[in-house]
Amino acid sequence: MTHSGKRAIVTGAAGGIGLGIASRLAREGASVALCDLNERKAAEEAGQLQKEGLDVFALVVDVSKIDEIRKMTEQAIERFGGLDILVNNAGILDSSSILDMTEETWDRVLTVNLKSVFFACQAAIPYLKKSDSARIVNVSSLAGRMGGYETGLSYSASKGGILSLTMGMARQLAPFRITVNALCPGTTESDIIRQWSTGQIESLKAKIPLGRLGSIADMAAAVAFLTGDEAGFITGLFLDVNGGMYMG
Ligand SMILES: NC(=O)c1ccc[n+]([C@@H]2O[C@H](COP(=O)([O-])OP(=O)(O)OC[C@H]3O[C@@H](n4cnc5c(N)ncnc54)[C@H](O)[C@@H]3O)[C@@H](O)[C@H]2O)c1
Repeated sequence: MTHSGKRAIVTGAAGGIGLGIASRLAREGASVALCDLNERKAAEEAGQLQKEGLDVFALVVDVSKIDEIRKMTEQAIERFGGLDILVNNAGILDSSSILDMTEETWDRVLTVNLKSVFFACQAAIPYLKKSDSARIVNVSSLAGRMGGYETGLSYSASKGGILSLTMGMARQLAPFRITVNALCPGTTESDIIRQWSTGQIESLKAKIPLGRLGSIADMAAAVAFLTGDEAGFITGLFLDVNGGMYMG
């Protein structure tokens, strides 16, 4: 197993891509904290994985609140005794048009999607510095790479911000041998895209040269690679997993 003995925090892990990542890392041998706002679903999913004999547990967190991020980190450290991997995956989608965008929506999306990533890294860094194979993966988006097709600009800006943050963190944390990379999923089959109509999804699908939406397993495999030992010399990378929808 590629991740034996590693200790990981995955945010937004009660469903979708986050649950896929958390399950994959746990099946590769990692101990994983499934951190999410949805307490009931995180507990249910952690329970299912525990039945498989995996070392996971659920933590409730609202990543828009810095004190809760710090508490999440401390609780994971208390349980695992250290930390090797932080996956900042929690995020919300907004599809407002430019003229319909409100300040409230803008602030909410930027807080949940971007500010949370910075403060989760800040809380984790003192522990990651003690790890032999420290990894941060920030989940951005195709929208962060090229502005988005159906996404609102609050979302695109939050995901673009993650990319700048990833490069800056990668540079500043390299002396501590902490790698920092971004996963940029294209349109992926999860609950988040349910706010779009079938027509919108078909139009997005038509833009994917490989002819299908991304799967949760596609995203989990990419994160398993970035957090594994073989990716130790990769930092500051934007890994596009999008079927060719955007080639940058
Ligand atoms: N699905 C896609 O097409 C797609 C494409 C590009 C990027 N992404 C990104 O991938 C990540 C995961 O998305 P997904 O598709 O699995 O979405 P999802 O809606 O299925 O899952 C998101 C999870 O995050 C949790 N969450 C939301 N707000 C939170 C908060 N404040 N605190 C803690 N947890 C919170 C939710 O409860 C949920 O479990 C997001 O950052 C999203 O922007 C998704």
